Amino acid sequence: MSSRPILVIGSTGKTGRRIVSRLTGGGHRVRPAGRRTDPPFSWEQPSSWPAVLHGAGSAYIAYAPDLAVPSAPAAIEALVSYAIEAGLEHLVLLSGRGEHHAQRCEKIVQGSGLSHTLIRASWFAQNFSEGDLLEQVRRGMITLPAGQVAEPFVDVEDIADVAVAALTDDRHSGRLYELTGPRLLTFADAAAEISAAAGHPVGYTAVAAGEFRAALAEETGPEYADLFTALCEELFDGRNATLGRGVQDALGREPRDFAGFCRSAAASGVWQR
Ligand SMILES: NC(=O)c1ccc[n+]([C@@H]2O[C@H](COP(=O)([O-])OP(=O)(O)OC[C@H]3O[C@@H](n4cnc5c(N)ncnc54)[C@H](OP(=O)(O)O)[C@@H]3O)[C@@H](O)[C@H]2O)c1
Repeated sequence: MSSRPILVIGSTGKTGRRIVSRLTGGGHRVRPAGRRTDPPFSWEQPSSWPAVLHGAGSAYIAYAPDLAVPSAPAAIEALVSYAIEAGLEHLVLLSGRGEHHAQRCEKIVQGSGLSHTLIRASWFAQNFSEGDLLEQVRRGMITLPAGQVAEPFVDVEDIADVAVAALTDDRHSGRLYELTGPRLLTFADAAAEISAAAGHPVGYTAVAAGEFRAALAEETGPEYADLFTALCEELFDGRNATLGRGVQDALGREPRDFAGFCRSAAASGVWQR
């Protein structure tokens, strides 16, 4: 692997900040990137990209807001071109399991000619503690258009471990890892486990997509409501109701269990009302 800095795009996010912390702790030269870094990196402003890419040897890419949005493939295609021009040697892309726009982005990275690793992750456990569903958990009711579908929630700590391995060890070049947790849980199951750990009741209500979108739009505005509803409609049809072996294949160990995630999140105090 190159001794040049490792660029982490999305460095303050759920995955990025854990990756930065692990790499820094391991003595690697790291270049965090986001809208508040110096120099700043904005997905909406390609003119900000060359300064951030210049001199880096490899990059972790967490696209914002989500690789599932229709604009993602064009952005990833442009970023890959800039990366080639800047002389980067290795790319690690965080992708989403069962998302067709994300899979187009994977193909762009695979066809780049650069060394690469693809991390195709299932729904994050940390969506309940750091992401879109935190407020719902605090309020005691998770409401989603997800029916009784089962998800193999993946712990973001495992994603960070795999990403760091991929950024620091050539053996992961050319690999696509399907990262899931070790168990399939419905959202009702997940709510029950969260409830037990949090010490207050947390339920689950399955709603129709239209109803979900309308309620969310009241809170967050139509743009985010459209994005999140479309993502749910695409994902929650059972396509991801299988376990992957990405953690085992990349790290030679079992993935972290949802129960451990619940214990850590509860201990952090994030679910307190
Ligand atoms: N959540 C899931 O269940 C799930 C599952 C599979 C895959 N994924 C993928 O995970 C990726 C998100 O990764 P994450 O959860 O680690 O990140 P995150 O927690 O959503 O944080 C987003 C990061 O991107 C930065 N950012 C936000 N808007 C930006 C912009 N316009 N330009 C540049 N940077 C921007 C943020 O920093 P600043 O605000 O400081 O700029 C932050 O560092 C998405 O591509 C999604 O497709 C998510």
